[in-house]
Amino acid sequence: MTTMPNMNNENGLDLADVLRFTQEMVAEAGARAESLIRSGPSVSLKADGTLVTNVDQTLERFFRETISARYPGHAILGEEFGADEAVADAAVPLWALDPIDGTTNLAHGLPTWSISVGLIVGDAPAVGVVAAPHLGETFAGARGLGATRNGVLLPGLAPGGPTEWEDAYAICSTSARTLDFSGLPCRLRILGSAALDICYVAAGRLSGCHCFAVSLYDVAAAVVLAGEVGAEVGWLSGEPFSPRAHARVGSRPNAALAVAPPRTLAFVRERVQLGR
Ligand code: IPD
Ligand code: CA
Ligand code: CA
Repeated sequence: MTTMPNMNNENGLDLADVLRFTQEMVAEAGARAESLIRSGPSVSLKADGTLVTNVDQTLERFFRETISARYPGHAILGEEFGADEAVADAAVPLWALDPIDGTTNLAHGLPTWSISVGLIVGDAPAVGVVAAPHLGETFAGARGLGATRNGVLLPGLAPGGPTEWEDAYAICSTSARTLDFSGLPCRLRILGSAALDICYVAAGRLSGCHCFAVSLYDVAAAVVLAGEVGAEVGWLSGEPFSPRAHARVGSRPNAALAVAPPRTLAFVRERVQLGR
């Protein structure tokens, strides 16, 4: 990983140190995921009708144990095992865990899934690591310390502007069913992992992305990287993204979160409409 200066924040956490801890933990989780996948993952349906595998559950348990041992006073929100009481308390650092983002892809043998671990400090995303073991990439970043892909610093993004027809723009399958993108010039992509969509915006591969009905754990890690390279994160409605408010409400069923360089985001807000 590129050497970056140390930085302390208001909670007395050294973000460079937390980032190292998170990268090591996610790397170990990736190895565990690969091993479980080699033995054939078990797939079942959750009460909400979505898929879950033993990989999702094993990784989240591992994250909870590892984080609680190192940072016993911190709060945890995870997709598979729920939220601690303190998730909305801005005085308590909050870990947002999506052990597998893109479970449908993993369950079907598709490689586009990721492991996503983010830390919120105060009301701002502070540390994020998103690893895609089958794609050989790890994205990592911390507030004020930059964002990296496989240890190499990502350059800042240009402010963007109107999208063009050959630009790649990622959406999710729920966005495709609920939003009208007909006024947005671009090639729409549905990759199946919101965390990777946002990392790909940060890496300059996508002009932007839309995530519909996301929970905080889907995006908490990746938005750190987006912020570090100058992308903006905001609801389609124009509201800013507030992690603590989002942690409290869970998923926002009728809200679309968009991530793009600032002028692109302004253009997208004019061109994409709710409802088809
Ligand atoms: C899902 C993925 C997908 C997005 C869904 C998410 P999961 O996460 O990020 O791309 O469209 O909204 O729920 O369920 O695989 O963790
Ligand atoms: Ca997810
Ligand atoms: Ca998940």
